[in-house]
Amino acid sequence: RQKEQEKLREANEFAKKLFTFVLRNTAAGKPAMDYLRSRGFTDKLIEEFGIGYAPSRWDTLEKALARNGFDLPEMEQGGLLLKKQESEGYVDRFRDRVMFPINGNDGRAIAFAGRLMSDGQPKYLNSPETPLFAKSRTLYRLYEARGAIRKTRQAVLFEGYVDVIKAWSAGVTNGVATMGTALTADHAAVLRRFADEVIVCYDGDDAGQAAAAKSLPLLEQAGFQVRVGLLPPGMDPDEYIGSYGPEAFVREVIEGAVSAIKFKLIYLRKSHILLEDDGKIRYLRDAVKLVARQDSPTEREILLKELSQEFNISLDTLKQETADVRRQEK
Ligand code: GTP
Ligand code: MN
Ligand code: MN
Ligand code: MN
Ligand code: MN
Repeated sequence: RQKEQEKLREANEFAKKLFTFVLRNTAAGKPAMDYLRSRGFTDKLIEEFGIGYAPSRWDTLEKALARNGFDLPEMEQGGLLLKKQESEGYVDRFRDRVMFPINGNDGRAIAFAGRLMSDGQPKYLNSPETPLFAKSRTLYRLYEARGAIRKTRQAVLFEGYVDVIKAWSAGVTNGVATMGTALTADHAAVLRRFADEVIVCYDGDDAGQAAAAKSLPLLEQAGFQVRVGLLPPGMDPDEYIGSYGPEAFVREVIEGAVSAIKFKLIYLRKSHILLEDDGKIRYLRDAVKLVARQDSPTEREILLKELSQEFNISLDTLKQETADVRRQEK
């Protein structure tokens, strides 16, 4: 078992080297290089993140693995190859994709995410679950970011690989991402070893905001201080940095990240129609419930004051309602 895992690590690292070589040094890699350039990837980023290209032939990696003595059925188990459907033998899993390696805790690749360069499905193809790679526990870039995370005791959680990369180039070196799946309690536990605070920085679209809302209780239960970086509707961190620049991203989105409760109140508003009294009352009732769960009386008062001013309700009334909720929930 141990030996098998070591072989798999070697194979993934071998594949990483092959993909980076093809991207940087071959004619086949030229369209991928053009694609990366058009998305603002510099040589430095391509190097730092070990980005490569898997060519469109069916057997590039398969032949190279075979030539170098790797056991092909094992490579299929390891997610690098697929069994041929009609005949004996194996073909490459990743073809004609820009390759983002996911490195394990010794810095060697344990999996890949491969991105199509044109529209199509799936946009990102990930390695399957293997003895080395469990999506529910793996965070993209944790190995590389953990020094920065430890130092600041803070991590930034993104949705997308490219968001992590572009944020890194903007100086946010403590960024990680899930593997295109929802955050799990295992992810939170892994991160908790290095960080006390998490800034959730998901896409500004509805899906991203819903995912952020879902991740908050998980992170809070793991004992994190949580803040949320807010992006304009429909923009992700990569697009924000492209439009407004790295300084604005750091200042407005990261440093300007709001507290978890602030985000919950903002998110709650989206599901209420505030034009009518009915909607206002329902929103305020739900908002008060959220505020009531805050431990700090000062924080509760500040939040209630804001609600009081905005909805022109007396602070006393809101305090009364908060006290009622706190008594009921005890
Ligand atoms: P770019 O278009 O390259 O900027 O990707 P993105 O990160 O902005 O993609 P998007 O916001 O659509 O999705 C966020 C993350 O979800 C991606 O980084 C992937 O991890 C994951 N994801 C997106 N599309 C797919 C897919 O088709 N299959 C899988 N497995 N994951 C996906
Ligand atoms: Mn998508
Ligand atoms: Mn998205
Ligand atoms: Mn996105
Ligand atoms: Mn994107």
